[in-house]
Amino acid sequence: MNQNSFIIKKSVFSEGKTKKIYLTNDPFKIIVHHKDNLTALNGLKKIFLLDKGILNNEITTLIFRFLHSSGIKTHFIQKINNREQLCHKVQIIPLEFVIRNVVTGSLSNRLGIKEEKIIPNGIIEIFYKNDTLEDPLINDNHAVFLGIISYEELNYIYSIVKNINNLLKIYFLNKNIILVDFKIEFGRSHKNEILLSDEISPDTCRFWDKKTMKKLDKDLFRLESQKKDKIFDSYMEVLKRLNQE
Ligand code: TMP
Repeated sequence: MNQNSFIIKKSVFSEGKTKKIYLTNDPFKIIVHHKDNLTALNGLKKIFLLDKGILNNEITTLIFRFLHSSGIKTHFIQKINNREQLCHKVQIIPLEFVIRNVVTGSLSNRLGIKEEKIIPNGIIEIFYKNDTLEDPLINDNHAVFLGIISYEELNYIYSIVKNINNLLKIYFLNKNIILVDFKIEFGRSHKNEILLSDEISPDTCRFWDKKTMKKLDKDLFRLESQKKDKIFDSYMEVLKRLNQE
């Protein structure tokens, strides 16, 4: 029996659009609960997708385990039930790191570049997590000026982000999935260590089937307003492929 067997779930620490964070009897550990909500456009578009939380909990678990085994430091400790994970408590750095391997989404509009152009070494962008400002794209100088982070920490995170992208691109390609782009977040632990946090799932990534180029992610809801069954089946397909050797 390990020490995590004695973890007791306490009060809700915070609740977002798709996840709920619970405190525990250990001040340095939290429980992340994946909800069944699917949201887009800063929460303006929203549906209830039964059992999506179960799929995202499992998908995130598999990806974080893979990254951990590849030497990436993450907040993830273990999956504790079908909707919940035990994680190290971190203070989230209010920056979204978006990594792009193929031009699409907001990059295509912003730069006026045709979709589906491959970006050989990837492009990293940072967005300031601020609902009132609708998460604007910022640069390193803005982030440091805002007092969010230092240049040293940013450089450290950029090197981890590149590493994660290289690992995940191959990981997904082996599952016949193109990792088009994705968003990740980092937090600081009580030891001031920077850990990959939050989730990596079809809610936060663009996944295209390698053969058909069909979407297997939240764009089915965000852009195409597909039926719930179709969205669920695509998330399920991602999970099925991750479970294949
Ligand atoms: P974008 O093309 O809309 O900027 O999205 C880039 C990637 O980041 C895409 O995989 C979706 C993900 N993303 C999130 O997970 N959360 C967000 O709030 C945004 C804007 C994007």
